[in-house]
Amino acid sequence: MVKENILLVGFMGTGKSTVAAELAKSGDFMLVDLDAVIERMAGMSVQEIFRQCGETAFRDLESTALSELSGSSGLVVATGGGILGRPENRKLVHVIGRVVYLRTPFATIQARLKLSKVRPLVKDEPDWHALETLLMGRIPFYEMADMIIDTDNKMPAEIAWEILQRLREVQA
Ligand code: S3P
Repeated sequence: MVKENILLVGFMGTGKSTVAAELAKSGDFMLVDLDAVIERMAGMSVQEIFRQCGETAFRDLESTALSELSGSSGLVVATGGGILGRPENRKLVHVIGRVVYLRTPFATIQARLKLSKVRPLVKDEPDWHALETLLMGRIPFYEMADMIIDTDNKMPAEIAWEILQRLREVQA
């Protein structure tokens, strides 16, 4: 199989990092978590970047981190949920590799985000209506993916397997 890159996109809480780790376990791909790359670049956590420097600074770092992946191969990239907000990133993801959208119902996302304390866009008292509106606004961009995978009621390993199967089909 050609080791082109895989980029996982989708809203917060759709399992991008977990599924990327599963794909990396296959031994065919090296794991890149874009938020972790950004944290290394900035020397602080995503939360701290948002708090100290603001969202625009975070988005600038995110675009830089993404552009630095150009020219690589054999990567599985867990992107942040807002990566497709900028038009240049929407183009670049398709240059870098196969874009896979992990599609998850909002109720599932909400249940997962309730357990998470580390996302700057999810406050201590989350505004669920605003988050659902944010998701709705992003869906058209996520749906520009090369592949859409429904994740609900599936284990991460199963989702990873489905992605690999479908990649093999398109490469056959
Ligand atoms: C964001 C999602 C986060 C992280 C940042 C912004 C977003 O990543 O990049 O907090 O705008 O949806 P995850 O999708 O991995 O939570």
